[in-house]
Amino acid sequence: MRKYIIAGNWKMQKNLSEAIQLVSDLKNELEGKDIIAEVVIAPPFMALEAVKSLIKNSVIKLSAQNMHSADSGAFTGEVSADMLKSVGCEYVILGHSERRTIFGETDEFINSKIKQALKNNLIPIVCCGESLDERENGTTFNIIESQIKAAFNGLTNEQAEKLVIAYEPIWAIGTGKTASPEQAQEVHAFIRKIIAGLTTQEIANGLTIQYGGSVKPDNAKELLSKPDIDGALVGGACLKADSFRDIILSV
Ligand code: 13P
Repeated sequence: MRKYIIAGNWKMQKNLSEAIQLVSDLKNELEGKDIIAEVVIAPPFMALEAVKSLIKNSVIKLSAQNMHSADSGAFTGEVSADMLKSVGCEYVILGHSERRTIFGETDEFINSKIKQALKNNLIPIVCCGESLDERENGTTFNIIESQIKAAFNGLTNEQAEKLVIAYEPIWAIGTGKTASPEQAQEVHAFIRKIIAGLTTQEIANGLTIQYGGSVKPDNAKELLSKPDIDGALVGGACLKADSFRDIILSV
């Protein structure tokens, strides 16, 4: 069964006391509410453990924003899947466009991280999305297809069905410019079709495909009403408890 997942990617924001404040506020905002979606938050690494202890008896699940593909070793500044598991992460965001464009992560590296996450029972939230140039020169679907094919490379169907996909058009991230619900739906349906070809129609139908890129309380409902949009990966609007709550409650 396809699950709605609303995830908040905090990016490089909130120090420890601010993180504790935000998660406490969010818990209060969600208390007693009828919540249908799975709620996931991805604070920065150094706040994961403190946040985990605060969300223990709540509906909120924990995600990291990135990890390395190796078990351990001489990788200064990196964090392993086992480390994330040890602080209570259930999810990990992989292949975010900021990782791809600013830090040069390749499709191959992202694929190796996906395999490592699955091996360690972390659910990968795998991001894909085209740049403004690619949208304007008509190559959106080629880009998405190659990112998705690379992400699924070498996965068994059993592994593939554990993935969560996030479609995040780069031109919509942090810009206030959202893809229209129709534009997003078109790409989501395409992603599902590609995945059906790589796995089975049943697996593709069961996968959660989130939309990300300037999701706000006032556009979430319309986006989420589309048949292939099964959640949201939220940046800016997850940094305030009340706006994130409103997005969660729009499912
Ligand atoms: P914004 O919601 O700030 O556009 O960020 C989206 C995003 O990149 C989530 O991963």
